[in-house]
Amino acid sequence: MTEKVENIAEIRIFLRELKKHSSYDFCDYSDSSIMRRVSKILNDNKIDMDQLITRIRTDSEFVENVVQDITVNTTEFFRDPWMWKELYKNYLPSLKNKKIINIWHAGCSSGQEVYSNLILLNELGLLDKSRVVATDINNEMLKIARTGVYNAKYNKTFDDNIRDVLECGEMSADVSVEKYFDISEDDGTIRIKSFLRKIPVFKYHDLVNGDIDSIKFDIIFCRNVLIYFNTSLQTRILQKFHKKLVNRGMLILGNHEGVNGFYRAKFSKDGPVYIKNSAYTFQF
Ligand SMILES: C[S@@+](CC[C@H](N)C(=O)[O-])C[C@H]1O[C@@H](n2cnc3c(N)ncnc32)[C@H](O)[C@@H]1O
Repeated sequence: MTEKVENIAEIRIFLRELKKHSSYDFCDYSDSSIMRRVSKILNDNKIDMDQLITRIRTDSEFVENVVQDITVNTTEFFRDPWMWKELYKNYLPSLKNKKIINIWHAGCSSGQEVYSNLILLNELGLLDKSRVVATDINNEMLKIARTGVYNAKYNKTFDDNIRDVLECGEMSADVSVEKYFDISEDDGTIRIKSFLRKIPVFKYHDLVNGDIDSIKFDIIFCRNVLIYFNTSLQTRILQKFHKKLVNRGMLILGNHEGVNGFYRAKFSKDGPVYIKNSAYTFQF
């Protein structure tokens, strides 16, 4: 049996039931992405839509598994190296006069993006004053992020990407991956060194309906997350980010994401970075 969900009405019923029987609200995720993920859930579990909805109503452990399966967790160290080179050369150094640098990685998955950023902050001598919070709704990914242990086979690009990015900086002379990773040939793992692992606080947070710390951030990373949301939810999340950034704070989105519509005027695009316009003050 190959189940392919093409009926949007069925999807809506499923999403409403999921919302009713859990804290999760995927109603404003993009239809195409949800349809693909739900088709996969049906096939992996060998059930049809009616059975899926029945299990959602009765089995809370199953609900958690469904949520893990709906989220797309693809990530890598220094994903899109050009963006990290820009940050390293042109944007992160501008924070050097700050006493404390507050950073939020929203939708951090298993943490590779977070550790990539910490490596650059360390190279720039900014690590000690960085306060980093990294959030996601997928608890399994957060567990991996906290351990900082990765399968080398699935993180093949880490070595090339790190060299590629760091070699563009001024302090490029002796970049070695061993500075940041313990590499075990025996079990095929790479482990982030503890001086980096102890910096970020990884915690559960749902962008759709959760509250984050009361502090304001100098940088918010939210890469390859908005792409899974519909336009209305994207706008709500951009509003949240705008409110949570300091004036001239930086918002960093994925390659295929942008600030559109109402919020376009509230940010200035500068290279890969959206900078919060200080000219505007808003009451939300
Ligand atoms: C494709 S990954 C992106 C990871 C990383 N930012 C990167 O670009 O490599 C998207 C992440 O967003 C998370 N996510 C999806 N919906 C979310 C929500 N409502 N709140 C917080 N995180 C969410 C997923 O669990 C997933 O880990």
